[in-house]
Amino acid sequence: MLKLNIHGSDGCPTPFYYYDMALLRRTLDAALEARPSDAYHIHYAVKANNNPVILREIASRGFDADCVSGGEIRQAVEAGFAPGSIVLAGVGKGDDEIEYALTIGIGCLNVESEAELQIIDEIAARMGVKAPVALRINPDIDAHTHHYITTGLEEDKFGIDRRLLDRAVSYCLASDNIDLVGLHFHIGSQILTMAPFEILCDRINKFVSHLKEQGVTLRTINVGGGLGVDYDDPDTNPIPDFKAFFDAISHNLKLEPGQRCLCELGRSLVAQCGSLITRVRYVKEGIDHKYVIVDAGMNDLIRPALYQAHHLIQNLTSESVHTDLYDVVGPICESSDCFGKNERLPITHRGDILAIRTAGAYGETMASQYNSRPLPRSVFAD
Ligand code: LLP
Repeated sequence: MLKLNIHGSDGCPTPFYYYDMALLRRTLDAALEARPSDAYHIHYAVKANNNPVILREIASRGFDADCVSGGEIRQAVEAGFAPGSIVLAGVGKGDDEIEYALTIGIGCLNVESEAELQIIDEIAARMGVKAPVALRINPDIDAHTHHYITTGLEEDKFGIDRRLLDRAVSYCLASDNIDLVGLHFHIGSQILTMAPFEILCDRINKFVSHLKEQGVTLRTINVGGGLGVDYDDPDTNPIPDFKAFFDAISHNLKLEPGQRCLCELGRSLVAQCGSLITRVRYVKEGIDHKYVIVDAGMNDLIRPALYQAHHLIQNLTSESVHTDLYDVVGPICESSDCFGKNERLPITHRGDILAIRTAGAYGETMASQYNSRPLPRSVFAD
């Protein structure tokens, strides 16, 4: 059960994101310790949580960053990530974003099409710089996760079709304005078995040796992110199994001497340290259902509505030893504004405080002002 460790939480207006910074630090340490060697670099995927306090903590621990927009790069640099340690991904980078990235000396642009290569080539030529580029290949691997968050299947919009790799490589080698530094992959998110990562490494080895035969050497292999977390039991498993992830990679990926392996972990680093704290406004009795209507809505945490995701819900204040089944819903005018159906909770009353757990990743960053509601605030505990 989550214990709120904040002074005057009673007076703290809900809803708010509550971040357990001690757990964040333990998670970051565990991830760093699980790396097989210094050849493995973790680029934190800023899209998972771009709260400045969280970003500063992650930057201060020596992580690198993975960004998907000019805005994220700005936030990452402001938080202390060195520009050269940032990679920029995205299937539709804007010219202004490419130019900005090259101006600050970005570590690498992960490129997803030949059309994008041509624009980077033009912009780099105009600026008189050599653009560091990794080619994102679509490896056509099923990550067995929600279809909205699988990215490495042939039908997905991401990456260069593997049959077009040679053409993209030739383009890079023929250009004076492009420095081909490596290959990039990402097969999906919330992946809980290691088999997809093992298959990915196997496929990467084939791409790398194919290119090696043609005399192309690569400095970096970026395996992407995707390690999942335990949404059902965050109290038992607050820290993901980074060791299993790195074992799956390092036992299967054949790194050449001097080659670096980058990964882009997002969710696994920040999900468990965050909870959405909300107050019960009404308990509404229906005929077949009881509804707990809370003051947080799908605008604060959209994952249940968008991906049918389930986050554990805990009543932090009820002292009742009896329980009942409730649908926990928000105040937004949409039926999908529902955090859980048939949730077994202790008898719940107006004014009770609920925690919606494992909300540190893709929670606050995906919040909106739908229904003209204010954005949720954030509170940090050590
Ligand atoms: N690298 C790339 C290229 C990505 O597209 C992503 C996530 C990551 C790294 C980080 O993946 P992670 O380690 O967090 O799984 N909003 C969805 C998740 C979308 C993930 C998109 N890409 C959710 O709430 O489940």
